[in-house]
Amino acid sequence: MTTVIKNKHIVLGVCGGIAAYKSVELLRLLKKQGANVRVIMTENAGAFVGPLTFEALSGEPVCSSLFEQSFDASIRHIDWAEASDAVIIAPATANIVGKLANGIADDALSTFMLAVTCPVGICPSMNTHMYENRAVKRNLETLRNDGYFVIEPDAGELACGTTGPGRLPEPEDIVDRLLKMLTIKDMRDKKVLVTAGPTWEAIDPVRFIANPSSGKMGYALARAAEYRGGDVTLISGPANIPDPLNVNVVRIKTAQEMAQAVFEHMEDCHIIIKAAAVSDYRPKEKEKHKIKKDNDEMIIDLIKNQDILKELGKRKKDQILVGFAAETRDLEINAGKKLKEKNLDIIAGNLVGDSSSGFGTDTNKVTLFFKDGKKESIPEMEKNEVAHLLLDRILERVG
Ligand code: CTP
Repeated sequence: MTTVIKNKHIVLGVCGGIAAYKSVELLRLLKKQGANVRVIMTENAGAFVGPLTFEALSGEPVCSSLFEQSFDASIRHIDWAEASDAVIIAPATANIVGKLANGIADDALSTFMLAVTCPVGICPSMNTHMYENRAVKRNLETLRNDGYFVIEPDAGELACGTTGPGRLPEPEDIVDRLLKMLTIKDMRDKKVLVTAGPTWEAIDPVRFIANPSSGKMGYALARAAEYRGGDVTLISGPANIPDPLNVNVVRIKTAQEMAQAVFEHMEDCHIIIKAAAVSDYRPKEKEKHKIKKDNDEMIIDLIKNQDILKELGKRKKDQILVGFAAETRDLEINAGKKLKEKNLDIIAGNLVGDSSSGFGTDTNKVTLFFKDGKKESIPEMEKNEVAHLLLDRILERVG
C-alpha cells in the first residue's frame, strides 16, 4: 500500500507506561506500511518492554542513553533528529509531556526531542486523574500551541482500575492519526459530504434486497478528505467498517433514509460525492410478519426509489457533484449518459465483475469522465489512492 508513511524515517519514542506493550504492535504496523523506524526508549520504558523486542522488529539499534554513539562515532540522538520525517511518542507519560512543554533535556528521548524539526505526534497515556491534572492539561496545551500534534487518549477502563480518559488508542488508530499528521491539508476550508455502502430494502422483518457493495470506496474517500483537513460527513448504508476518525458518520439502512440524510446535510457542502450503491427499487409493501414458504412461486411488487444523485443535480448551487457508475458493459456510453442526466461535474465509472475493481475489492480501476468532455483512465490502484486522486481532480475544479 502506498501511503505518506512509505519509505519515511520515523522515530518511535517509548516511555515507561503500562501501554508500552502496544508500541510493539505500533512499530510492527509502521514497518508493514513501509516506514523505516527507529526506537528511542526512556529508562523506565525498559521496565515494561525490553530493547531487544524493538531492536528485532525495527531492524535498527535502539537508543536508550544519551551517551551511546553510532558506529561512525557521530552522536546518535542528534543524527536521528536530523534524519527523521516524523516522530511519534507512544505512550507519552506525564513526565515526558512536562519535559517537552518546558524544554527540559535530561535523557536520550527529551534531548533528541529538542533537536527535532519534523512533525511530532504525542500520545498521552496515563491514569485519568493524572491526565485531568491541571499541570498536565496546561503542559498538553503548551505542546499543542508549540505545534505538536496531540492524539487524544481513548476513554475506558484503565490498567490502574479507574475508568475515564487516559488509555493509549489502538495502534491502528495511532497510525491513522499519523497519516493525517503527514498529509498536506489542502481541504481545510472544505465541507465534504460522502455516501457509501449499499442500502437494504426490507421485504419482511428478516429479509431485504441489497447488493454486494462493501462501502470501502466511500469510506476511503471520507478518510482521505479528513486527512486533508476537510470537514467530512459520511452517510453510510450497512457496512462492516469502523467509523473513520473525526468524521461525522450517519448510519442509515434504506434508500429513503439515505435520501433524507443527504438532503439534510447537502446545503452548505462544497463537495458531494455519491459513492453509495443505492437500491433502485424497494418492495411496495413490507410484510409485517415473516413470509412463509407456502407457495412454490412468489412475486414481490417493487417500486422505484428516488434517484438521490439526480435530485442533487437539480438542487446543486455552487457545489461540485461527483457520482459513481457501476457498469457491466459500455462504460463510456453509460457513464457519459449519467454525467449529463444527473448534472454532475465528474463521474467515476468502473466495470464491476472485474477482479481488480468493483464490489468488495481493496483496489479499483476507474475511468473519470468530466463535465467538459475530458476523460482520464486510471490504472488499478488501492481504493485509498483512487480516493486521493479523485480529490485532487475535484480540488482542481473547486472555485
Ligand atoms: N444513485 C442515487 N440514487 C439512486 C440510484 C443511484 O443517488 N436511486 C447514484 C449512485 O450513488 C451513483 C450513481 O447514482 O453515484 C449511479 O448509480 P448506478 O447504480 O451506477 O446507476 P443508476 O443511476 O442506478 O442507473 P442504472 O441502475 O440504470 O445503471
